[in-house]
Order: sequence, then structure tokens, then C-alpha cells
Amino acid sequence: MTELLRAPYATGNDHAPPAARARPIRLTLNESPYGPTPTVLRALRNWSRTANRYPEFRPERLRRAIAKHAGVPVEWVTVGPGATGLIDQQLRRANAGDEIVGATPTFEGYPLLAAAHGLRYRGVPCRPDGSVDVDALAAAVTSRTFAVVVCSPHNPTGSVIPPADLDRLLSAVPERVRVVLDEAYLEFAEAEFGYDPLRSGVLAATHPNLVVLRTFSKAFGLAGIRAGYAFGAGWAVDEIRATEVPFAVGPAAEAAVPVALEAVAETRRRVTRIVAERERLAEGLRDAGLPALPSHANYLFLPTHDPIALADRFADGGIAVKACGTGVRASVGTATDTDIVLAWVRRA
Ligand SMILES: Cc1ncc(COP(=O)(O)O)c(C=O)c1O
Repeated sequence: MTELLRAPYATGNDHAPPAARARPIRLTLNESPYGPTPTVLRALRNWSRTANRYPEFRPERLRRAIAKHAGVPVEWVTVGPGATGLIDQQLRRANAGDEIVGATPTFEGYPLLAAAHGLRYRGVPCRPDGSVDVDALAAAVTSRTFAVVVCSPHNPTGSVIPPADLDRLLSAVPERVRVVLDEAYLEFAEAEFGYDPLRSGVLAATHPNLVVLRTFSKAFGLAGIRAGYAFGAGWAVDEIRATEVPFAVGPAAEAAVPVALEAVAETRRRVTRIVAERERLAEGLRDAGLPALPSHANYLFLPTHDPIALADRFADGGIAVKACGTGVRASVGTATDTDIVLAWVRRA
């Protein structure tokens, strides 16, 4: 597979897709490969019978359930249509020409939404090992900085921010600048390393400019439901809450999220399975000459000089992965997906 990093694609049977699949395996969006649990499905079916009704004006029931789950006071929480919707709500407060400071490569929603709001995304390169350089982020803050964004685990590299680094960042950033701690993939890190989800709540209590962002799109497998939340103890989260759009969190989220939150054991089982698949995939890719970085999320990052070419080569095998700046990101799928990917890279 090292050849994939440089050789042009050779047409012929040797390089034909592993099976004549009608659709590529979708490993581009870091979705859960598992559908909703039976209890969530039942809740969704029940909801569909009352689709003529609006959801709550503001999602107060969900807010209470989420606060309990996250272990923070309910007043700290705001619920939105996915983490993406909450990012968009925050950026409405910025002035044209303001800057967002964050790592690069990163979750593409940040530069995209920054541009949509007339803001500049100042990207600070990740280190070669995929870690986020928080000192360089702090040094990049200027009088035009509206927010500093850090993702932990980081998308696309899968690195986590060590607690001491986060503390240093929070001390270095002026209090007028919001720090967004995006924990979209928290549950995968939590499962493996005892990444403490309650620590963010402790930090929020003493840093009014901290916004902790989470989603039901990843470990909970509800990407299509569009539900996420932010919490924090101060003005930064109050500002997001002030921009809540009435009825924006739909009835499918109202129905599914509380049930998903109760299915703790099933979610843990799925996360454990995905983490095990991730490790098997990483090892297989490395054996085939593709040096996957260690990851604490549900995807792997493969650094390369030509991400587009490498993504194209996977596509030739019927495997859709994402080219991201300095490498290619492959989401972790089912065991069958892993088998297909590894069979392909061994042959290619
Ligand atoms: C780091 C990060 N934050 C936020 C999101 C968006 O999540 P949501 O589906 O809740 O909008 C993603 C989605 O891939 C992500 O990777």
C-alpha cells in the first residue's frame, strides 16, 4: 500500500474493487455505523404519529435531561440543531472581519461557517504527530479574535488535548474572547483513556468565556436527528442561548435523545466495538505501509503529501474517505467495513 502514496493508479483486474458493490462504503463523515437502538426506533415511530404538532418552543425537557446527563446545572445548558447549529448561533455575535483562531486541518464546519459570517479563520498547523499546539493558538490571538476553538479529540487527527495544555490555554486567552472546547467525540476518548467528561464542567465553573460543545451525532448515532448542546457558566453560553431559534430542535430529537441517554449500556457497547475496530484498522493500515496516527475518536488520520490522490485510490476500491489538508481521514465502520478496507489496502 505504500505504493498508493506515490504510484499512479493502474487499471486492470488487480486493482478492481474488492467486490462489485453498488455503493461505496461511506467512511467520510465520522458517523456511527450502527442504526438507532430498538428503543430509540420505537420512540421515533411513536413521534411520527404526531408530526402535525410543533415541538416545544424551546427544548426545555431536553435541556433538563441533558444537564442531568452532563452533570451540570440546567441554567448552563443550551440545546441546538446539532453542534453545527450552535456554532452558527455563536458566530452571529461576531462582527465582519473578526477572526476565529483554531487548528488546521480542522472540522470543516469552522472555516465554512466563519466564511459564511464574513469572518477570517486563522489556522494554526497541527504538529506532525497530530497534536494541537495550544501555545501557538494563544499566541495567534489578536484584538480581532472573536473565538479560539479547540477540538478534543481533534478532528481530523484524533489527538486529545492534555488537561495541562487546556489549563494553559484558558489562562492565556483574554477573558473577552470565548474559548470553544468542541468535544464532539468525547465518548470515544472517555471509553479508552478515562478522559474525564466532568472536568469540562469544573473548568466551565471558573471560566465564564468557556463554551463546551457536544453532539448526539457521533457516539449516540443520531446524526440525522440534528441535536447538540453547549454548556458553560458564563456570558459566552448565555449569548448562544439568546440566539436560540424557536422550534429549531425538532420533535425527532425530542423523542430520541432522552431514550438514547437512558441506553447507557448499549451506547458503551457500541463505543467499545468501534474503538476495537479502530485499533484493528489502524494496525492493518500500518502493516500495509499507511502510517495511521494514534486516534482517540471514531476515525483515523493518514498523513500524506497528496491527500486527494490517496482519497482517490481508496475510492477506486469503493471506499469513500475524506481528504483533509495534510492527510486523509477514514471513519471507523463495522467489522465488515474494516475487512473490506484492509483487503483493499493489502492488494493495492
Ligand atoms: C469536531 C466536530 N464538531 C462538530 C461537528 C458537528 O456535529 P453535528 O452533527 O452535531 O452538527 C462535527 C461533525 O463532524 C465535528 O467533527
